[in-house]
Formats: sequence, structure tokens, C-alpha cells
Amino acid sequence: MKAIVYSESGASSVLSLAEREVAEPGPGEVRVRITVSGVNPTDWKARAAGVPFPEVVPNQDGAGIIDAVGDGVTGLQPGDRVWIYLAAHGRPTGTAQEFAVLPAERAVPLPEGIGFDVAASLGVPAMTAHRALTVHESGPARLAPGALADRTVLVQGGAGAVGHAAIQLAAWAGATVIATVSSDAKAELARAAGAHHIVRYPDDAEADRIREIAPDGVDHIVEVSPAQNAALDVEVAANHASIAYYANNNGEEITVPIVASFAKNIRWQGVLVYTEGEPAHQAAVKDITEALRDGALPVGEAAGLPLTWFELADTAAAHDAVEDGATGKVLIRVAAED
Ligand SMILES: NC(=O)c1ccc[n+]([C@@H]2O[C@H](COP(=O)([O-])OP(=O)(O)OC[C@H]3O[C@@H](n4cnc5c(N)ncnc54)[C@H](OP(=O)(O)O)[C@@H]3O)[C@@H](O)[C@H]2O)c1
Repeated sequence: MKAIVYSESGASSVLSLAEREVAEPGPGEVRVRITVSGVNPTDWKARAAGVPFPEVVPNQDGAGIIDAVGDGVTGLQPGDRVWIYLAAHGRPTGTAQEFAVLPAERAVPLPEGIGFDVAASLGVPAMTAHRALTVHESGPARLAPGALADRTVLVQGGAGAVGHAAIQLAAWAGATVIATVSSDAKAELARAAGAHHIVRYPDDAEADRIREIAPDGVDHIVEVSPAQNAALDVEVAANHASIAYYANNNGEEITVPIVASFAKNIRWQGVLVYTEGEPAHQAAVKDITEALRDGALPVGEAAGLPLTWFELADTAAAHDAVEDGATGKVLIRVAAED
């Protein structure tokens, strides 16, 4: 089978197309025939940071069809269409290959009628967004229609992949959703994803605009750039708000106004999809599956997430596109759909 591999870290030029044996699934594992591999910032960052195994196949997310199941696997069988999350977490091989072996719980059955483009876009973005919306002192721990009714969510960076998923999940759960964006084109995307209000950044009047929309403050903040937005977040936060920060875009340090922050009982909540724990993963998987059943997580430009496609052999270019900040989702076509 064809696989993209690297055995040294560095620029995308370390990636090469190779022929590898198809692996057998061990106990508790499944083998998936990959149709689409999804690319996230974590994939190029991991590639650039080091090589934890002698050889690595990149990419955490993907979609495909179960091809074989190992001993003890229940609830999955050959022929099932699945979406995949964290395929390469703690393991050497991800989804940039024709057949991937992974723990069974990381291959999730797709509801009827959901395409592999949607499926390969879920993983890291949707699970991160789910966690950011549900790890809260006084908010619901699970998402469902109505779960966030009467709550206001601010999504910083509404045209990003995680931001897009956060808008969709929050809107599905009944929240009033405010998204920040940096351009008119990204405003259109955030609106298409389901945001009710758009605020442009950078803008001196950003806090005023958000306060006009949410005079009582914002209950949940999904934050991609805490270094830039910490003071703004505190200013617009409601009492008992949670600021769920999941990235270090544009800065490594946060400066927080202390009194304003504790006076509102604000929770600064870190989110990392790799380490959040199995209960958080399973809650996300269940709620995302229900959102898929409701048709709440479409992709494509009309749904606010333009897709950019690459062939498997061009995985290096796909990594570069993500590193260069491609708007929307970068996907790799690994095999034709039957
Ligand atoms: N902690 C975790 O578990 C986790 C999970 C997923 C992703 N991440 C990290 O999260 C980041 C985003 O991932 P992604 O896949 O969503 O990337 P993406 O699609 O490139 O989105 C990043 C978005 O952030 C926006 N942004 C940048 N600075 C901003 C600011 N000051 N205010 C508001 N928005 C701002 C960008 O918009 P403009 O370009 O227009 O500014 C862009 O839309 C990456 O660093 C990634 O590694 C972490």
C-alpha cells in the first residue's frame, strides 16, 4: 500500500511517498481503508517538532471504511463507514496512507448520508470545539439542541477550522453565537456556519460592539489567540464566564487584568484534545454523532468551511497549505469513494 512517511523532523520536504506492508489489527484495534485524510496544524507542528518513532505516518484525522477488526472489537464490522480522530496519538501511524490500524474507539460510525469530506473534517477541530463549549463551571457538560439556549458564545476566529466547528456546535445547541473575523470574506464564512453576529478585528471598538450584542456579557469564549485577546475577553465576559483557550496563535504569554477577572469569577480554562481524557472524548463523539444526524455539521464554502483538496502524493503541499494559514479545511483524497 501507499503511505506518506517521515523519519526525521523538519520542513515538509521530509515527507515521502513509500510502499509499506498493510498491518494487521491487534486486539481492540481496527483497520480502516482510508478514503480521505484531514490535515490540521497539529500535523505539521508534530512533523516539525520531532520524530517519536523510527518512522511516522502523519495526520490525526480521516475517514474511510472498516476493512478488518481485531479480537474483542464490538460495535464495528468490515464495511462500516467511519470518521477517525487522533489516529496517530501515541502511535507511529496516522491517516496519510491507504490502510490505517488504530484503536477501535477512535473510529466512529458515520450516520447515514454523511460524506467523507464532512467525516475527515471532524476529528481535532470538532472535538476541540466540543470540549471548549462544555468545560464550564455552570454550563452543560454535554451538547444537544437547547443545551445552550439562553447562553451567549463568543468564538474568536470564526473562520478557522476549530472556530467553524465551535460556531456550528454552539448554534446547534441553541446558543446566541458571536464570531470575530478579520475580513469581509471571513465574515461571510462565519455567517454561513451559523454565527448570529459578526464582529471584525482588529478594531478598537470590538468590546463595545460585543457589549451591544450581549449587554449581560458572554458566557462562553472559545479562544484561539489568548495572548492578543485576554483583556478583551475579560471585558466582555459575563459573571461566571469560561474562557476556553486552545491555541497560542500570535503570542505565547497571557497578561490578565486580575481584579476584573476574579470579580467576574472567570474561569481560564485550558483545552488540549490530546490530554483532555477519555470521558471528554467519548462525550464529544456521542454529541458530534447526534449533530451529524441532525445535519448540523456540513462543510464546504456554502457552509462556511471551504475545502482545499490534495492527492496523497502531495501531502507535503497539503501540510504547507495548513502551515501557510489556508482558510477552511485541507483534505487529502487517499482513495476514490465506492
Ligand atoms: N488545544 C487543542 O487541542 C487544539 C486543537 C485544535 C487546534 N489547535 C490549535 O489551534 C489553532 C487553530 O487551529 P485551526 O485548525 O482552527 O486553524 P485555522 O483554521 O488556521 O484557524 C485559525 C484562525 O484563528 C484566527 N485568528 C488568529 N488570530 C486571531 C485573533 N487575534 N483574534 C481572533 N481570531 C484570530 C485566524 O484568522 P485570521 O487569519 O483572519 O486572523 C484563523 O481564522 C492552531 O494553532 C492549532 O494548532 C489546538
